[in-house]
Amino acid sequence: MSMHQSNPYDFIAPVKDPKHFAGRNEELKEIEYYIDEARGPKPIFFNLALIGGRGSGKTSLLNMIGHIASEKGLLAVKLSLNNEVVESDVLFFKDVFDTILTKGIERGMFGGPTDKIQRALRKVNLNQSLH
Ligand SMILES: Nc1ncnc2c1ncn2[C@@H]1O[C@H](COP(=O)(O)OP(=O)(O)OP(=O)(O)O)[C@@H](O)[C@H]1O
Ligand SMILES: [Mg+2]
Repeated sequence: MSMHQSNPYDFIAPVKDPKHFAGRNEELKEIEYYIDEARGPKPIFFNLALIGGRGSGKTSLLNMIGHIASEKGLLAVKLSLNNEVVESDVLFFKDVFDTILTKGIERGMFGGPTDKIQRALRKVNLNQSLH
């Protein structure tokens, strides 16, 4: 009997499913420590940078950090930065709030008024592009 199993690794797409993520135990343990620091009775927040060569697994590790944070009850969001966004505080914070709201709504975290906030955020985007 032959059982066909497709290869989940395609060299291009970062690993999303924890089942397919291998190793990095030390890094994950260290990052978990910092996540827990942010959840304690006196939360301390850290900025962490994942630095590595091309294709070394940065995005895959980031995805696992997102999973761990979500499992611990945090709302993990991913914001992709580009020159336009980092050069404008308005665009940057608009993206931050928009991303948090969108993901939060998906998780059923907020009530009705978020619609209004999201519409207001879209206006910010529009006004920015008109300038
Ligand atoms: N921990 C891991 N377990 C299994 N496969 C992995 C792991 N980390 C990375 N890979 C494999 O390596 C490939 C490259 O990983 P990834 O895209 O996360 O690297 P990257 O550092 O973000 O790359 P880039 O520099 O192009 O952004 C993935 O497609 C995946 O197949
Ligand atoms: Mg990457």
